[in-house]
Amino acid sequence: MTTEDTVTEDAVTAQALDSLRGTADPRLRELLTALVRHLHAFARETRLTRAEWGRAIGFLTATGQACTDTRQEFILLSDVLGLSMLVETVHGHDTPGTTASTVLGPFHLTESPARDLGATLDLVGDGEPCVVSGRVRAADGTPLPGAVLDVWQADAHGFYDVQRPDAQPPGNGRGLFTADDEGGFRFRTCVPSAYPIPTDGPVGALLRATGRHSYRPAHIHFIVSADGYAPLTTHIFVAGGDYLDSDAVFAVKHSLVKDFTPTDDPALAREYGVPNPFRHARFDLVLERS
Ligand code: BEZ
Ligand code: FE
Repeated sequence: MTTEDTVTEDAVTAQALDSLRGTADPRLRELLTALVRHLHAFARETRLTRAEWGRAIGFLTATGQACTDTRQEFILLSDVLGLSMLVETVHGHDTPGTTASTVLGPFHLTESPARDLGATLDLVGDGEPCVVSGRVRAADGTPLPGAVLDVWQADAHGFYDVQRPDAQPPGNGRGLFTADDEGGFRFRTCVPSAYPIPTDGPVGALLRATGRHSYRPAHIHFIVSADGYAPLTTHIFVAGGDYLDSDAVFAVKHSLVKDFTPTDDPALAREYGVPNPFRHARFDLVLERS
């Protein structure tokens, strides 16, 4: 028996990988094995020091501690590192003509209240009035009656209801709509504005340390579901707005940038129940078969 210490870098990695062989779930085994391989390669490539690893542990601990019922700092971290958008891209939609997906983000935290078609999301009413309408359909044009649209957006000042419970009633900027017999949907809201993602936690510190801005271009979130079709998580972005070319979470796809057309039509405004003039965004949401 030798007293010599024979542990090498490669031996540590081999032992850690070997310890995963008994993982019963093959997909979990595949994921953990690749994770250990990449983490060990990272530590080797960067010659990661004990102090640096300690700081990283502190950062991840603070990220977990920043999470509450109304805040998800880990999703935010995944978003600013581009990982959320990479996962979306790896599993991009395959059917030509269907609407592209993009990130969920950290603010889909509360259930959206069910609202009638034509109702407003804007319970405060201090933004630029806007109508959003279109159809949910399949790629071959078949309308999808009864499709459910879960919609959420920041207010005209760039905050979600959960961020400003003192200034916004719960459910402000949120709505759950059921498409009509032709797959049609319509709702009223205010034109969303660009906003900074939360920077008062560890992710904000990361952005400052890397000299990055924290802004997202103005957008409205959707999760659209219909029987027989894959649920679609996406946004529409306001054409002509700031930060379309430098989204802090890399989530802009050109096909999702839509005109919010200035509209001066008193009769139409009356029909829709909005003040004149208003802005009107029209687009279809096209789902992929599951
Ligand atoms: C959002 O659009 O709500 C969002 C997405 C990623 C990070 C922060 C916010
Ligand atoms: Fe958002």
